Amino acid sequence: MKKLILILFVSTLVSEAALAASFEPAWGRDGMLVTSVGPAAWAGQQVLENGGNAIDAAIATAFAAAVAHPFSSGVGGGMFAVVHSAADGTSTSLDARETAPAGATAEFYTKNPGSIRSGARSVAVPGMVQGAWALHQKYGSMPWEKLLEPAIKMASEGVRVEIWHHNVVKRVAERLKDFPETRRIQTVDGMAPPLGWNHVQPELAESLRWIQKKGGKALAVGPIAAKIAKATGNAVTELDLARYEVKWREPIRGSYRDYEIVSMPPPSSGGILLVQMLNILSRYDLSAMNHGSSEYVHLLASTMKMAFEDRAGILGDSDFYDVPVEKLISMAYADQQAARFDPRGQVKARSDHAQVPDDDGTTHISVIDKHGNAIAITQTINTLFGSKITVPGTGIVLNNEMDDFSIGPELANSWGATGSTANMVAPGKRPLSSMTPTLVLQDGKPVMVIGSPMGTLIISAVLQTLINVIDFDFDAQRAVNAPRFHHQWKPDRLTIEPEFPVEVRERLQSLGYELREFSIIGAAELAVFDPDACMFWGGADGRRDSRTGAVNTSPVPRPSETVQCVGTSRNTAEAVPD
Ligand code: DON
Repeated sequence: MKKLILILFVSTLVSEAALAASFEPAWGRDGMLVTSVGPAAWAGQQVLENGGNAIDAAIATAFAAAVAHPFSSGVGGGMFAVVHSAADGTSTSLDARETAPAGATAEFYTKNPGSIRSGARSVAVPGMVQGAWALHQKYGSMPWEKLLEPAIKMASEGVRVEIWHHNVVKRVAERLKDFPETRRIQTVDGMAPPLGWNHVQPELAESLRWIQKKGGKALAVGPIAAKIAKATGNAVTELDLARYEVKWREPIRGSYRDYEIVSMPPPSSGGILLVQMLNILSRYDLSAMNHGSSEYVHLLASTMKMAFEDRAGILGDSDFYDVPVEKLISMAYADQQAARFDPRGQVKARSDHAQVPDDDGTTHISVIDKHGNAIAITQTINTLFGSKITVPGTGIVLNNEMDDFSIGPELANSWGATGSTANMVAPGKRPLSSMTPTLVLQDGKPVMVIGSPMGTLIISAVLQTLINVIDFDFDAQRAVNAPRFHHQWKPDRLTIEPEFPVEVRERLQSLGYELREFSIIGAAELAVFDPDACMFWGGADGRRDSRTGAVNTSPVPRPSETVQCVGTSRNTAEAVPD
């Protein structure tokens, strides 16, 4: 009997553990978490299973992600979150974006352009811990201390190195040779840790314990703040750290077909571009087109080009620059833009930049719970290991978010993105981002939570994944898996994933596209609540080490049984799709 109980317990654990990406969506009766940091999924899944809400789960996962993939996000970086609260039915967004230090000037970077990419002058004032704290203060239901525990456990006991982790560190290891603390902690003798290596980060565990104890201001004042200032040679001063503030912002809102879109406002370009593109595309019956056909790719790519043209020209931190948000997301503007589309040719670009977006300093977490709370967090240190600086004695990797600023109209950043004065460096300003944490609501309730890492590619990945569900009725996993493409105006070329067939490529070339193949266009992490089935679905993106954490705490209902479902009663027997 004892043996049987043990077997049952083990099999429950196996069936309900976080799942890697697959061909079928993950399913849950009581909630769904999806993240690009697979080894961190269990942290939030466990929180949900223990009665925490979506926001608690996202915070726990965000800290765990900082430990599991320290090359892609962490407490030395920043984040955006878009949140829906079931209690009052409202959605809002949190801007915990890194901020230019008081001493940062455009002139310095124009004269020393290399310094914006790595090293002390690439570091912007981090916001992640204060962001997580602000989310917890407003929405948290579990003690803060508890939410830090999974991350502390992973940092002190170790995380097993998987293929993604190994390959990423291999790519960047050579560039760490001038950064001894990062090299010491993140490599094994200067090389990528081998598969199966137990990666322990005791100094980071200590810092996380400090954050657990001190809360939101743990990095803003006190010994860690002093160490950050020292590690950056006072490029980021203790005063910069003490003055940092998160901002609650009114999200960008739009509608597409029968859905409401709620996404990130400036300093992100993501929400504006997403809504702008959906507005244009709402003029077309996409479902009548063949998904992935040249006709379809041409329409979407032209829409991307026009939206990214605006990004380069007039987007930046709206606290410093008058971004015409209302105009950009209006239907009248969509009409003007749609009129520029030529089914037989190109929307012309003005100049070209040969930059390849290819880096991985960002992670995404999507969570939706059984009460109807939802949260999308995208967090970043910008490129792999950010500035490459680890603050000695803390295990904290500092971001290089300054590179998201523009330092001249013709100088592209790591993502190939150019900018204008709208996104020029200024003290206290926040650099323009592409991060697009997004909620989709139907009848005022969240039905999708999505976001992605990968710089400018994020916006295209989110757009296409949403269209795959809304217009093509793909399930969550198929929507995430489907091959993607991306156009960002400059460089004037269409980036496509390898799966596109020769005929489609030839037809696109005949329409004037220069094609570039790239194997990974974003990593969209999609959590869905399906009110008809009364089920949560998850699509984790296999382009990264992504995983779903499905929640199944309620008993499996009999087919004839009526269940309570996010505030309503429903018989679900007929509603599960084939
Ligand atoms: O905020 C931004 O747009 C960039 N710092 C994002 C960088 C990124 O997505 C890195 N990728 N994996």
